[in-house]
Amino acid sequence: MAGFRLDRLLSASGKYTRSEAKDLIRKGKVTVDGVCVTKAETKCEDLADIIVCGVPLNFREYHYIMLNKPAGVLSATEDRRDTVALELLSEQYRALKLFPAGRLDKDAEGFLLLTNDGKLAHGLMSPRRHVDKCYYVRVAGSLDDTDCTAFEHGVIIDGDYQTMPAKLEILKSGDESEACVTVQEGRFHQVKKMFLSRGKCVLYLKRLSIAGVRLDDALNPGEYRVLTEEEEAQMKREIES
Ligand code: URA
Repeated sequence: MAGFRLDRLLSASGKYTRSEAKDLIRKGKVTVDGVCVTKAETKCEDLADIIVCGVPLNFREYHYIMLNKPAGVLSATEDRRDTVALELLSEQYRALKLFPAGRLDKDAEGFLLLTNDGKLAHGLMSPRRHVDKCYYVRVAGSLDDTDCTAFEHGVIIDGDYQTMPAKLEILKSGDESEACVTVQEGRFHQVKKMFLSRGKCVLYLKRLSIAGVRLDDALNPGEYRVLTEEEEAQMKREIES
């Protein structure tokens, strides 16, 4: 995992400016997991045990992890048979009782947010907040403008439910087509059912972004990192706007 610069973690606590942080580190006043660190650019996890002048750095109440969920893993906290997303985290993070903010099918890949912030998770999932979730899909069959229009107007799924307006961008059309679809709700198998309503079966599904925050290209399936401060703020802005 990439981790954060030590000076950045100190200043993010709100107790020190960036230059105060650099100064304290340079003077040997900071230990990370019991080891004195004197380079401000040293990368460490936000869960590391950081002590400044003998005083522990702020305790973080909420944690936000961007996971690139691989296919075959459940977006759940526990399961008797299958591997669940939380099992992909290090022991330190597993102890935090995080949960997935929204579902991603077992066979789907991509951005799964793991957090213990119930307010943010609820806001991201609530259709009333109109938070964009963008997916890349490969489907069997061709796509054209009539599919885009249908998605824009809403299609019928689950027998009688009309979906909210969704944006379909066709990347490639043929026997097998590729597209990006942006939806603002998250019913069970939502995207797959929307394509099925147009007579097309989804072959591959990957979530690319949530609330304007893109899945980090550097994360291979199964890898994760902490959201940056900007990403966290962006998600919070989205649920409040
Ligand atoms: N839509 C689906 O069909 N599946 C997902 O996992 C997410 C959105």
